[in-house]
Amino acid sequence: MSCLTDCLLCPILLWPAIIGGAAYFLRKYMQGGQFTKQTDESGKVFIVTGANTGIGKETVLEIARRGGTVYMACRDMNRCEKARQEIIRETNNTNIFARQLDLSSLESIRKFAASFKNEQDKLHVLINNAGVMHCPKSLTKDGFEMQLGVNHMGHFLLTHLLLDVLKKTAPSRIVNVSSLAHTQGSINVDDLNSEKSYSRIGAYSQSKLANVLFTRELANRLKGTGVTTNSLHPGAVDTELLRNWKFLENSFVKYLVGPLLWTLFKTPKMGAQTTLYAALDPALKEVSGLYFSDCQPKDVAAAAEDEKTGKFLWEESEKWTGVNTSKKD
Ligand SMILES: *[C@@H]1O[C@H](CO)[C@@H](O)[C@H](O)[C@H]1NC(C)=O
Ligand SMILES: *[C@@H]1O[C@H](CO)[C@@H](O)[C@H](O)[C@H]1NC(C)=O
Ligand SMILES: *[C@@H]1O[C@H](CO)[C@@H](O)[C@H](O)[C@H]1NC(C)=O
Repeated sequence: MSCLTDCLLCPILLWPAIIGGAAYFLRKYMQGGQFTKQTDESGKVFIVTGANTGIGKETVLEIARRGGTVYMACRDMNRCEKARQEIIRETNNTNIFARQLDLSSLESIRKFAASFKNEQDKLHVLINNAGVMHCPKSLTKDGFEMQLGVNHMGHFLLTHLLLDVLKKTAPSRIVNVSSLAHTQGSINVDDLNSEKSYSRIGAYSQSKLANVLFTRELANRLKGTGVTTNSLHPGAVDTELLRNWKFLENSFVKYLVGPLLWTLFKTPKMGAQTTLYAALDPALKEVSGLYFSDCQPKDVAAAAEDEKTGKFLWEESEKWTGVNTSKKD
């Protein structure tokens, strides 16, 4: 007997147990808050960009469970259709649709918006979720640096093309999935398109700061329309966004880092919780221009409150995407 008690405390068992236990609780803590309010989304129309994988897919799945009609906007139609079938199988909600949208092409964005408006005259929630992260330097079809082009310019145009139907449907919402990375970002006024120099991380943080800056600018412009706009940080989530972290491809590194990632990163399902909160919580009906994290409002970085930069970016974005928001409609 005493041999057993001795052994329970012996270092060989004790340390792994302590580390394992600590990792378990740390993981639980890192998963963050969950959106548990019951809501009925039947009769409501949603668009989710980047919907075939990760947080986007989990977001669609949960809205589908709650009865919503969801347009999954994806670049890769094979993967989109596969995800759609899975979601329908799991929820029995057949009002889930897969539509082509390539945010790195202004033409594709225009096509998507036009055909959506042909099919639907309502849009309750637009979830700008798609994003690229830390990719090697490349350009969109229209010659924009890829991260700024997809994460910011593409969604800028998409949002503006859908604004009329959002206003008609009000109360309605625009939700932007940004990132804590915006706190490291700065808008490079002299070289917005990274033509003189490019850094994967710099361009990513810039694009995410742009998301937050725009939420505030847009919230101001939409006052009184019944359309709210908020942005959020989903948390550190272990999704395919990490596909550009080359060092993770090495299997030795994977073996070493895997358990650490398991401890520190959220699952896509947990990563979707703040998006669901921003999109669905009835308490937020009139809340606009805020930034959320872990299912609650958070302060933004000082750079995200800089109105001059916000204005500069807005004007540049209009020029780049050919939108004129001063025009009265
Ligand atoms: C979906 O429908 C099938 C067949 O009617 C049923 O067996 C299943 O429980 C349903 N699933 C859900 C999640 O409602
Ligand atoms: C979301 O981000 C895009 C791109 O930065 C921007 O055009 C749009 O106004 C933002 N919308 C919201 C609700 O923040
Ligand atoms: C945008 O529209 C306004 C009002 O119609 C007009 O005065 C302005 O010149 C337009 N801007 C551009 C860049 O076309």
